[in-house]
Amino acid sequence: MHKPVLLKEVISLLNPKSGSVYVDCTLGSGGHTIAILNSGAKVYGIDRDLEAVEEVKTQNSKVKNKELKVIWTNFRNLGELIKGKVSGVLFDLGLSSEQLDSPVRGFSYRFNGLLDMRMDRSKGVPCYKLLKEMGVEDLEYILLNYGEERYFRRIAREIVQNKPETTEALKEIIRRITPPSSRTKILARVWQGLRIFVNDELACLRDGLVGATKILKVGGRICVISYHSLEDRIVKQYFRDELLLKVITNKPICPSEEEISGNPRSRSAKLRCAEKIGIGG
Ligand SMILES: C[S@@+](CC[C@H](N)C(=O)[O-])C[C@H]1O[C@@H](n2cnc3c(N)ncnc32)[C@H](O)[C@@H]1O
Repeated sequence: MHKPVLLKEVISLLNPKSGSVYVDCTLGSGGHTIAILNSGAKVYGIDRDLEAVEEVKTQNSKVKNKELKVIWTNFRNLGELIKGKVSGVLFDLGLSSEQLDSPVRGFSYRFNGLLDMRMDRSKGVPCYKLLKEMGVEDLEYILLNYGEERYFRRIAREIVQNKPETTEALKEIIRRITPPSSRTKILARVWQGLRIFVNDELACLRDGLVGATKILKVGGRICVISYHSLEDRIVKQYFRDELLLKVITNKPICPSEEEISGNPRSRSAKLRCAEKIGIGG
């Protein structure tokens, strides 16, 4: 079961009030959403992963909570989706434990399975199909810019030659051509780069932040938890440059040692928050 990251810190920054409306753009297993609902607030829970949405809907039908509205969509549509203004918006980026631990999704190199990597399996093209069509230069760009991987040239060349379809086949390529000492980090970076590309994650985040600013009330807050430097940089710059926002967290909030030891997946998390100060957007 996915453990919500920086939960106390998110709740303290959003400070949800009974009757107010919040949007959880990354519903996942609903960890943050449940805590917001417990304050008596209403929540729109959004996720692009149908399995996550169906699971939360099933749970919610058992507790009959009318204050939660679950929506299956990409948060990049936020600006057009929500009519009226809300008091807070949360983005907890990346993947849930359910997604990471499911071999058929291809999100983790720890399990063998098809290299799919799509968060929404009803749209887009699975990773293994993209790898069949991609040229070396495009793949080099992805591995360098989205994976920040220094062996990007040799990995791209081998992938294009061998066209791996499964996580094990891709892992085997990387095993053959990279030094064992840094292997785990290389695997993580290659997976990150491909996943960002397959799901167009950085563009979605930019659109989502614009949408969130548009639907917020003055005084409402956006909280974003990111898990790698590419996402964090986008959030930091957007919060700094958007005139309708005031930065609340000058430095990002990170999980305590205690949280990391209870939930190692939280170790790279960074939470930033901004407040809407002007009308419009
Ligand atoms: C880290 S999990 C969220 C976990 C959740 N906060 C909890 O406590 O259970 C991230 C979720 O965001 C979803 N997601 C990522 N990018 C998305 C996007 N552009 N639009 C909608 N959902 C997205 C993923 O499918 C995943 O379920």
